[in-house]
Amino acid sequence: MIVCVCNNISDREIRQAADLGLNTMSALRDDLGVGTCCGKCKSCAKTVLKEYRNAGAGQAPAMTAKSVAFPRRTQAA
Ligand code: FES
Repeated sequence: MIVCVCNNISDREIRQAADLGLNTMSALRDDLGVGTCCGKCKSCAKTVLKEYRNAGAGQAPAMTAKSVAFPRRTQAA
């Protein structure tokens, strides 16, 4: 399911990012761009992240996307 339409970020990508240590909304914003355009996805992204953490996943130590070469998506022109 697409969570952030503006940046084409899915719930799966959010969980993958959490597995890499991007387990806060600010990390998702900074590294994936979640919520950086219209902001309508913030609530859903928070829910995906919270449910994933509550399931015991996505607890890796924090690292940046730059250190793991996680590509940031950009909107097509
Ligand atoms: S849907 Fe995520 S910023 Fe617009």
